[in-house]
Amino acid sequence: MASKDSISRTVMVALALCVVCSVVVSTAAVVLKDKQVANAANEKKVNILTAAGIDIVDGDLQAAFAKVTPKLVDMATGQFTDAVDVKAYDDVKAAKDPALSNALTATQDIASIRRQAKYRTVYLVEGENGLEKVVLPVHGYGLWSTLYGFIALEGDLNTVAGLGFYAHAETPGLGGEVDNPRWKAVWNGKQVFGADASQPLIGLIKGKALPTAKHDIDGLAGATLTSNGVTNLVRFWMGKDGFAPFLANLKAGEA
Ligand SMILES: Cc1cc2nc3c(=O)[nH]c(=O)nc-3n(C[C@H](O)[C@H](O)[C@H](O)COP(=O)(O)O)c2cc1C
Repeated sequence: MASKDSISRTVMVALALCVVCSVVVSTAAVVLKDKQVANAANEKKVNILTAAGIDIVDGDLQAAFAKVTPKLVDMATGQFTDAVDVKAYDDVKAAKDPALSNALTATQDIASIRRQAKYRTVYLVEGENGLEKVVLPVHGYGLWSTLYGFIALEGDLNTVAGLGFYAHAETPGLGGEVDNPRWKAVWNGKQVFGADASQPLIGLIKGKALPTAKHDIDGLAGATLTSNGVTNLVRFWMGKDGFAPFLANLKAGEA
């Protein structure tokens, strides 16, 4: 019998350990897959609610989410559509599917997303006096990653009610400061558009924005590239190739 310290025994123990570890890791990955998908979906809902300023009371996410109505928008017309079931629709998957998306030209593609889904899910928050807020999905490239998030607008469809990203891989402390609640709070009350409702003016500037500046947002320190990415993605989605036609229809009561 090989001695405890022999090479063959050491190799066998190392191999056995590798097999056991890989079985544990792959089993955990398979078993936890559904939970991960559910957690990701919940994270997205929390982000939508946070952008809309809706509190989750007693940890009841579903009750809070019942206050928002998801609806599909046909991006070609800027009108609501029932062409596909909104509950089953996956915006992120659709944007990658050539049958469900359109390629953007280089001039259109300021957010560096290459393709745009034909339909997008938007979330309406309605009260006794009609539309209170609309939450719109936004995404675009920063420095290292595509940032996915939501921007909420007040009922005037111009004033920002909130902004947040639920997925990105920018560097913590630099581009990752997009998640800093203090920075996100700067967006609230800023105006997306000036006199022309098809031309978004909102964007990040280098340094700190004056509180009186209607469209300027503080730049992220040491993260100009992520900052530029955020400006580009917000301007794309608020612009004529994004939601501007839908917002105009909604304002006119013709969506
Ligand atoms: C390890 C590392 C990670 C970085 N991560 C980011 C980032 O997430 N976002 C970003 O804009 N810049 C990041 N940068 C800095 C950029 O390379 C670039 O210097 C910066 O965007 C310039 O911004 P500033 O003009 O505000 O200094 C990183 C740099 C290093 C070395």
